[in-house]
Order: sequence, then C-alpha cells, then structure tokens
Amino acid sequence: MRTAFCIIAFACCCMAEAQHTIRSGEIWNDDRGMHINAHGGGILEHKGRYYWFGEHKSDNTSAALVGVTCYSSRNLADWRYEGVALSVVDSVGHDLERGCTLERPKVIYNPKTKKFVMWFHLELKGKGYSAARYGVAVSDKPTGPFRYLSSGRANPGKYPVEMSAADIAALDTLQAENYTEWWTPQWRKAVKEGLFLKRDVTTGGQMARDQTVYVDDDGKAYHIFSSEENLTLNIAELSDDFTRHTGRYTRVAPGGQNEAPTLFKHDDTYWLITSGCTGWAPNKARMFSAPSIWGPWVQHDSPCRGPQADTTFGGQGTYILHHRGTFIFMADIWRPEHPSDARYIWLPIKFENGMPVITWQEEWKPE
Ligand code: GAL
Repeated sequence: MRTAFCIIAFACCCMAEAQHTIRSGEIWNDDRGMHINAHGGGILEHKGRYYWFGEHKSDNTSAALVGVTCYSSRNLADWRYEGVALSVVDSVGHDLERGCTLERPKVIYNPKTKKFVMWFHLELKGKGYSAARYGVAVSDKPTGPFRYLSSGRANPGKYPVEMSAADIAALDTLQAENYTEWWTPQWRKAVKEGLFLKRDVTTGGQMARDQTVYVDDDGKAYHIFSSEENLTLNIAELSDDFTRHTGRYTRVAPGGQNEAPTLFKHDDTYWLITSGCTGWAPNKARMFSAPSIWGPWVQHDSPCRGPQADTTFGGQGTYILHHRGTFIFMADIWRPEHPSDARYIWLPIKFENGMPVITWQEEWKPE
C-alpha cells in the first residue's frame, strides 16, 4: 500500500515537473487542453503574472477571424486561457473587419496613464498587404477588452533624425521614374538613399508591417517595424502615453530587407534580432547591435546554434522576453496550410564573449 502511494506520488511529481518545461516545436496545451493559439505574439509581465498576447489563427486561413488572444501564467510554462483581448469587428468597412490581417500584437503597460497599450500590424480586409498600417488599442486590464484607437502609416511628413538638411535636399535627385526596375544596383543604392522614404513622407507616412514595441529603462517606448516595402526597419519613439508616434525615428539597415524585429538591451548595448524576407518560410536570423537605440547599428552573424540554426530552427522571431535578468527568444514555426497548427520556439539567450547566442534545446526550464 505504502509502495503504491509512493509510486503514485512520484508519478504525480514527474507529471507536474514535465509541465514546467519548454519543448519548442511541440503542441503546447493551455488549461483547457487546447493548443495555445497566440502566434506572432509577445509577453507582458505585470504584478507577478505573465500575459501572452498573439494572433488567433484559424484552421484554413491566416486572415483574422477572431482577433488577439490572451493567456496568462505564473511560471511561463503553464498557461491559462484569458479569452479574446482585442476582437475583430462585424461591421463592413471597419478597420478591424473580420477577415482583415492583424499580426504580431505586442502589449506594453503605461504607468502614467495606467493603461495597457497594444500595438499591432494591420492590413485591411481584401487589400492584401498593401495598407501596411500600424494599429493601436488600449485597455484598463491586461486581459482586455482592448478598445481600438487608430491605425495608419507612421510619422507622415517627418524625416529620420539622422538625415541632415543636405541629405533631405538630395532626395530631390531620386526620381521614381528612373527606378522602375527593382533589384538593380542603381535601384538598391536609391533605396538606401531614401527612394521609398521620400515617396511615403508626403503620401501618408512610412509603411508599418512586421513589428514589436520596446520600453527602455528610462520609461520611453519605441515602435520597431519593417518599412519601405519591407526593405528598411524603422525605430520610432512613442508619445508619453505610448499611443502615438512622436515624429522622431531612425532608419536601421536601409535596403537590408529585415522582418520580424525583436529587441533587447543588455549591459547598455541594444540588440536587434530579425529575419530576412521569405514570407512564411523560415530563413537565417540576423543580428545587430548599437550603443544607443538611435544607433549606429552594426550587423553581426546570426546568434543561432545547433540543428537548423541556418533557418532559425525552422522559425521566425517574434519577441524577446526579459525574464529575471535572463532573455528568452520567442519565435513561430508557421504552418500556412494549417495556420492554427503553427508551433512555438522559445529558447534562452546566453552570452559568449559578450555576444548573444541562442542554442537549440529539446527541453529546458525557465529559472
Ligand atoms: C512574414 C511575416 C508574417 C506574415 C507573413 C505573411 O514574413 O513575418 O508576420 O506577415 O510574412 O506572408
């Protein structure tokens, strides 16, 4: 009898233990026993709880039929479903009309307004990826419901902080009709110099697609997104209430074709880990560092190590979680033919000779 009790107790312990580990690429069940549906997501820590926000994906379309879901956890391994934090809308012509594309949501908390602020990438229903807008929503509670505020292109009428008056004047020499053929050396040079930047400054603002948000130690927040036809990243300062761009922004890796930006800061160095532009198919991660969020940004090799390191382990980054002095790289293994079956990769970021390294691990436990 006593032996049987011990065996059962031991088995229970092992089961509980098993649930507290992270196994990238596998099915991750929530408290209801359902695969977590929060893709392209990010995590907010608030009052000792982690809130995971992500895209709800359906079985046979990548369009948004539900909205942004929220899950919460105390240990980063066992997740409780909290419901739909930001819902799509059923009125025709609404920016968030059911069937729009709503990707890569991230939530930050503003201590001054006591609001939770969600930023996401929005594409209007039936318009493919042409709208290239950011979207913003706010809530009084981390779990929502979030109230949609606005969407649009970024920083209309504004030039990046690093451009001098002479740089801006030189944009006049870039005539779009001279660069109708893409990918030629002349076109690449023109893109770097601001061919698309110039086009968008005066026509509604900079394109905003793959994105994340970052709150710095001094409380300032930044929106980091793929702009200029996914050719150039922008890092844009947010207003004190985190709901608007201030007009100050910098271009990172102009013409470098970076998507899936993720950002963290370690020992006063800012690190940016991105992907290339191959749609849902995985590619090799890129990494940049800078002494200030405003740059200069320098490119390094991919931080990934181990099997499939050259395709970011088959995934694409979405967020870097700062967790008690450690950093966790979060990525998505997309399944475009069966979007809801997409999987998650979470791996710790270690440092070797001062450089971030992400090594594949079958199973690990957050500290
Ligand atoms: C990826 C991007 C995803 C999604 C997809 C659509 O490159 O990171 O968020 O937009 O393209 O093809």
